[in-house]
Amino acid sequence: MTSQAYLCELFSLDDRIAIVTGGSSGIGRAITGALARAGASVVAVARGEERLRETVAELLADGCRAAWTVGDLSSREGVRAAAEDAAGVFGEPDILVNCAGINIRPPLDELDEDVWDATMALNLEAPFLLGQRFGPGMAERGFGRIIHVSSQQAHRAFVQSGAYGVSKGALESLARSQAEAWSPHGVTCNTVVPGFVMTPLNARLSSDPGRVAALAARTMTGRNGVAEDFAGAAVFLASRASAYVTGQSVFVDGGFSVH
Ligand SMILES: NC(=O)c1ccc[n+]([C@@H]2O[C@H](COP(=O)([O-])OP(=O)(O)OC[C@H]3O[C@@H](n4cnc5c(N)ncnc54)[C@H](OP(=O)(O)O)[C@@H]3O)[C@@H](O)[C@H]2O)c1
Repeated sequence: MTSQAYLCELFSLDDRIAIVTGGSSGIGRAITGALARAGASVVAVARGEERLRETVAELLADGCRAAWTVGDLSSREGVRAAAEDAAGVFGEPDILVNCAGINIRPPLDELDEDVWDATMALNLEAPFLLGQRFGPGMAERGFGRIIHVSSQQAHRAFVQSGAYGVSKGALESLARSQAEAWSPHGVTCNTVVPGFVMTPLNARLSSDPGRVAALAARTMTGRNGVAEDFAGAAVFLASRASAYVTGQSVFVDGGFSVH
């Protein structure tokens, strides 16, 4: 067997169908690109058409199979509609990546019910509903990969974790519940835990060089993350190679969590 064939056997996503929420920006955009370049047919879902169009155009130009559907995952009806639209493009997914998320960060005293509801709806309820929609079908077909994107704030409180940290803590628990339910049928469910990654989500924090340097100093690699740092972990967790990895929180954080 050539090394190329061996690597394909482990990691190729040829003939797989993937849906990536938040696939038009930051970490989700990098994961969309990684899965598509590894062979999957990928549908990116988000609200804004322009960034979706750009993301997919770049992949199509590289000869990948990719598409986008507009969806707003901030309500149950929105999630249901987005799921049907996304599955309507290439078919029922083998891989679901829940990456869309918000972090509003008011001080806890000022955190009202609207912020709580908006955070839980997008960061926790949408991944739950999408899991309910696609998980059983994956289990029936005997293969599936569900990948959530969590946060350091699921594990420790800092920079006003508020509702966000709670939503991400619960998201990691959701991955374990899903793993318990569906792993016996070939569906692994895991969470990727980023450190501080320079993306539009962090625009305010990223514009403060002192805070950026302090966060980089908390890693072991000496730098903050970039979206492309998630490509390898995403391909691994989406591939056959990760068949025996389930219910896990995989830290991709330059050592931030262990420093
Ligand atoms: N950056 C970090 O340091 C960091 C650290 C830890 C965890 N994370 C997590 O990583 C994930 C991605 O973050 P990022 O930094 O890459 O953020 P980002 O660049 O702001 O991307 C967020 C994505 O989610 C989409 N989105 C937002 N609201 C949506 C909605 N209601 N319905 C559908 N899509 C929606 C956005 O597109 P539209 O706005 O067009 O809808 C965009 O594609 C999030 O879950 C975040 O919590 C990030």
